[in-house]
Amino acid sequence: MPSDADATADIFLCAIREVAARDYSPGQINAWARIDDRAGGAIRRGSRPTWMAELASKPVGFTDLVPDGYLDMMFVHPEYQGLGVASLLLDQVEQKARELGLDRIHTEASITARPFFERRGFRVLKGQQVEKRGETLSNLERPQ
Ligand SMILES: CC(C)(COP(=O)(O)OP(=O)(O)OC[C@H]1O[C@@H](n2cnc3c(N)ncnc32)[C@H](O)[C@@H]1OP(=O)(O)O)[C@@H](O)C(=O)NCCC(=O)NCCS
Repeated sequence: MPSDADATADIFLCAIREVAARDYSPGQINAWARIDDRAGGAIRRGSRPTWMAELASKPVGFTDLVPDGYLDMMFVHPEYQGLGVASLLLDQVEQKARELGLDRIHTEASITARPFFERRGFRVLKGQQVEKRGETLSNLERPQ
């Protein structure tokens, strides 16, 4: 639904600007926290399973799973951090992965999300530099 696309876009932007901002420079955050093509984003969301967490009907987080096992997005609204929202979302991803017969889930995690994924049994495969709009950002590639 378009309203879901707006909600995921807003959570994405706020989570980067207010949470990931502690681990990245202002230039890196500006390069990352942008959506050039909201319509394209909505189409991508529709092309893969996406889960939205709601609290009292308010969207508070979302994640997704590309059918090859790639978890692309995991974002929780800044006001709802540390409440187990991402854990619930990852439970859904893991259940779907089992249904699909996948033997691993992999992601390219931000520095900010590293402790969360490690707590859930992911391990780091390699550190990598990713270029976004002229800024270089570090993240971590990790299979489960
Ligand atoms: C990473 C993120 C998704 C975690 O969401 P969350 O809902 O706060 O996570 P949870 O409450 O489910 O935390 C689960 C566990 O991870 C731990 N954890 C989560 N973030 C942590 C952090 N930054 N440092 C240490 N531990 C952390 C929690 O303490 C908890 O451990 P416990 O179960 O032993 O208590 C959230 O912080 C976020 O949106 N970050 C900014 C956006 C981002 O970088 N997303 C990832 C892009 S790849």
